[in-house]
Amino acid sequence: MDRSLLQCITRRAVLGGLVILPVVAARSLADTAQAARAAPRPPPVTTVDQVLNVMEFEALARDALPPAHFGYIATGADDDFTVVRNHDAFSHYEIRARRFVDVSRLDASRSVFGVTWPTPIYLSAVSSQRAFHPDGELGTARAARTRSMLMMLSTVASTPVEPVTEARGAPVWQQLYPTDDWTVTEGIVRRAQSAGSSAIVLTVDSMPNRNNETLTRAMKADTRTCSACHINNSHDRLHKAPMFAGLDVSRATTISPPNMTPVFLDQLRTLVSVKLLVKGVVTGEDAALAVAHGVDGVIVSNHGGRNEETLRATIDCLPEVAAAVGGRVPVLLDGGVRRGTDVFKALALGATAVGIGRPQAWGLAAFGQPGVEAVIDILNRELLQIMRQAGTPTLARITREHVVASTWR
Ligand code: FNR
Repeated sequence: MDRSLLQCITRRAVLGGLVILPVVAARSLADTAQAARAAPRPPPVTTVDQVLNVMEFEALARDALPPAHFGYIATGADDDFTVVRNHDAFSHYEIRARRFVDVSRLDASRSVFGVTWPTPIYLSAVSSQRAFHPDGELGTARAARTRSMLMMLSTVASTPVEPVTEARGAPVWQQLYPTDDWTVTEGIVRRAQSAGSSAIVLTVDSMPNRNNETLTRAMKADTRTCSACHINNSHDRLHKAPMFAGLDVSRATTISPPNMTPVFLDQLRTLVSVKLLVKGVVTGEDAALAVAHGVDGVIVSNHGGRNEETLRATIDCLPEVAAAVGGRVPVLLDGGVRRGTDVFKALALGATAVGIGRPQAWGLAAFGQPGVEAVIDILNRELLQIMRQAGTPTLARITREHVVASTWR
């Protein structure tokens, strides 16, 4: 079997935990046995300060959540290979560490649209966070506040923009699912702008009826009746998400219309008075088109592999998008970011800032606000570590010269 495919399946079996393939079980058991011989078994993690790295939060989240809610976080599309590749593809790039640089003072701060953040890492939109912890988006917002992080709020969050902004103590970016009714689009954008949102982020990679088999399987394993949070046990977000409350959604049939052409972008551009970004771009052509239609930023994303099974990792899409944009607007990236070295590589390949999705949900599920804070702290610590090692005391010093294509594929 192809080595990368084997790795891919193995990681899926170990990390996702919802799909176990026989061939993989043998391989991962052997790995586990080898690892067990090499190191004494650590005590089980019970407090947040015992967690060593971001990936460990995934297993803790799985233990903390009912199957369907964990399945909602974990799921990709079809066989989940794009989810796995998003992370594994970071190993396509190696870091060229430079010596003879004074790295006694490190500065990871980054300015985006005139606001300076202490880190280039941001919290990407993750919907329905009360399914992961009773504090939901408020817990995440409080973590973002203590760590001065940029937070993007989902349209289909379980808490609306006003209390989240208050908990964050600063404006959040509002992710936009526009629906197929323009009056609803207007309602969401105006509400977010009134709440102080400094950017609207249009998600362009969502299509109705995506094939989330891992979620479907997990829901079958979950026998609870969920009428407290689900209307008639359904996932009808148009009638559930509080950002739609007060709007007439009777003509809307989907949160993501399948006919978002450049005409829609132009229409939205005239409506949005703050910064407008598009999230879900994976080609240079679309990035150039979006910039030509007036967007202020492009986010390289495939929705964490949740929407379509392209098998194309976002880090592999980044170079062509960055080239097409040519520095005219910021290019952000999310997908599979689990280590500070992943952040470093994305910055080296042209990203202005780097988003995380699942890790914040894992941290929230496992420990609430302190869990999200720990995820942020671990990634920031690892980023500073590799900046020091690679001889890059500031983010501006991280360039294309600091990465090289791996020959290990
Ligand atoms: C998401 N993501 C997402 N994106 C978006 O534009 N609107 C949304 O409402 C959501 N909701 C959501 C829920 C959950 C549970 C996950 C895991 C993800 C996608 C998210 O913003 C981001 O693009 C990916 O999660 C990044 O990949 P990683 O970090 O999860 O690998």
